[in-house]
Amino acid sequence: MASGHVHSRLPTRRPTRARGPGTDATAFTPIVGRDAELGLLREQLADPSVRLLTMTGPAGVGKTRLALALADDLGGPPELHDLAGYDRAADVLDALAARPGERDRLIVLDQGEHFTEALAAGLPRLLADRPETRVLLVSREPLHLYGERVLRVPPLARVAALELFRQRAVAVRPGFSLDGGVRAQVTGLCELLDDLPLAIEFAAARLKLFRPAELLDRLRAGQDVLYGGPTLSHHASMRAAIGWSYDRLTGQEQAVFRALAVREGAFSPMDDTDLAPELIETLVDKNLLVPLPSRGGEPRFRVLNVVRSFTRDLGRSPHVPAPRAAAGAEPARSRTQPLTPREQEVAMLVAQGLTNRQIAGRLGIAEWTAVNHVRNVMRKLDCTSRVNVASWVLRDGAVAGAVD
Ligand SMILES: Nc1ncnc2c1ncn2[C@@H]1O[C@H](COP(=O)(O)OP(=O)(O)OP(=O)(O)O)[C@@H](O)[C@H]1O
Ligand SMILES: [Mg+2]
Repeated sequence: MASGHVHSRLPTRRPTRARGPGTDATAFTPIVGRDAELGLLREQLADPSVRLLTMTGPAGVGKTRLALALADDLGGPPELHDLAGYDRAADVLDALAARPGERDRLIVLDQGEHFTEALAAGLPRLLADRPETRVLLVSREPLHLYGERVLRVPPLARVAALELFRQRAVAVRPGFSLDGGVRAQVTGLCELLDDLPLAIEFAAARLKLFRPAELLDRLRAGQDVLYGGPTLSHHASMRAAIGWSYDRLTGQEQAVFRALAVREGAFSPMDDTDLAPELIETLVDKNLLVPLPSRGGEPRFRVLNVVRSFTRDLGRSPHVPAPRAAAGAEPARSRTQPLTPREQEVAMLVAQGLTNRQIAGRLGIAEWTAVNHVRNVMRKLDCTSRVNVASWVLRDGAVAGAVD
């Protein structure tokens, strides 16, 4: 994130992890597609009664990228605060509230999913105290506040997905083009990757090793070939995000969702009389279901492939509720305690095989602090080795984390 996006008078933030397979391309690559979404965002913000606009969508769909494009588009220095860089959302809200009156400000708060409860409690007060302030919240889930407008960011249109792949591919394979049979192969890749920009970036980066046809074959065969970059694979970070949302469902919701998730392609709840509209709403909220344009007035949805494969790997019969979440009980993880967002970051880096010193370097902290974090992560997860931590991340990821 460019430092110009961050306001200096807020509490010190921690550096956050870069996205994409290597470099943070956001700073110098053009945004691909998204004219429709930018138009909708501008339209919402043209309405002065909109004070809180929440942009949601699955991990890696391009929410942050869109928020940055919007901020640039609106001119003036964008003020974007990445909440994952703070230990408590309340600190940021308090600091924002304490600032002397600045008029007509659009404040962008990113990664709100780390602090859903704190934001739901604190944002109404901030907006009431500061009538000139408006907030664009970027989060994997809406807050459900009165007056909150929600914009769901869908995966890229196929044409834009192909173009994003082409642009990222040229960077690793000069001369790459979509001519000939390559277009069909890349179309197959985009389809398999749900047209999610982060996944597309990871796939294009793998052209260093594989031809598009090979990549497609391997992905179709279920191999996690996107793994191997300097950041945790798209697959693992998506699964962590999905696991986190899944664990916040009740046992009954989980059971219905698992049954639903085995279906391929679009479906309409009208075909299923036992699918309660509230349940569909919850699943869409958590981005476990993606709404599609309705056909003949009939609402339609689909389950992303990455979500389907997550559900498949839960390794349980689709109709049997997971024991730990049975009968509406709080999700209980045996003997593990929730990780703070910082500890989650550390766990991710441990999973990537980084040493304590490398973790310290990556996060810009002292080595002994990294040692302490790793010790706490292992204690909280009841792990005896770094390999245990890695398998926890790959299996459960952020599920037990994200506490305020
Ligand atoms: N429209 C786009 N054009 C070019 N690059 C994009 C576009 N959308 C996303 N990307 C790239 O894809 C990657 C993922 O996007 P981004 O980080 O915005 O996703 P996100 O929805 O914010 O994910 P998360 O929920 O994990 O924060 C980034 O590297 C980003 O630069
Ligand atoms: Mg983001």
